[in-house]
Amino acid sequence: MKTRERLIVALDVESVADARALVAALGETVSFFKVGMELAYAPGGFDFARELKASGKRVFLDLKLHDIGATVERAARQIARLGADFLTVHAFPQTMAAARRGASDGALRLLAVTVMTSYDDADLAEAGYACGVAELAARRAKQAKAEGIDGLILSPMELAAIRPIVGPDMLLVTPGVRPEGTDVGDQKRVMTPRQAIAASADYIVVGRPITRATDPAKAAEDIAREMDGA
Ligand code: C5P
Repeated sequence: MKTRERLIVALDVESVADARALVAALGETVSFFKVGMELAYAPGGFDFARELKASGKRVFLDLKLHDIGATVERAARQIARLGADFLTVHAFPQTMAAARRGASDGALRLLAVTVMTSYDDADLAEAGYACGVAELAARRAKQAKAEGIDGLILSPMELAAIRPIVGPDMLLVTPGVRPEGTDVGDQKRVMTPRQAIAASADYIVVGRPITRATDPAKAAEDIAREMDGA
């Protein structure tokens, strides 16, 4: 795999028409797209994900599943049938085991979200947890591995702590990536694409630095080149 194929562009736009225009503008530079809840739940969102697959692109459905086991299992099976490459689930052991059953036979890779990066220790305490973010993230990373989950979504700042826990085979996928010199927006703890790859990320997810750029194709090409050089 070429290093630039590890770039996933987050299609965080509100309509399929906008997403289609963006994909067309990016052309061959980008081969992997993340479809999150905003776009998936827009009219035609899931059909658009199928369309992307049919055009030869890879698709990451960021739906963060979490429900009773039977429901998660059936939902994961449907998403495997759709042909998605990656799907996110919350890293609760029952949820992960159920998704694993549902996605047992296909090419769908399951990624677990350990602890949302918008949560800090105080948020976990408020929600009734007796441990902090670092401890919970490490615990859930181990559980994800034990449940046969393929990878984790995590902040680039967590790569150094989590990679040794899960070993080399687990896919580590990180948002919170900003090319040097760009606006960090609401992302607080960021790394550049080169730093994230060097810190052992397998894939990086980039949204606004590409989707809101005046020239998205150039922004993506600059990031892809930076990755090729990592
Ligand atoms: O626009 P930006 O590059 O910040 O987009 C990052 C993408 O990754 C968005 O789709 C966002 O929802 C997602 N994400 C994130 N931080 C997390 C988990 C997911 O930014 N901790």
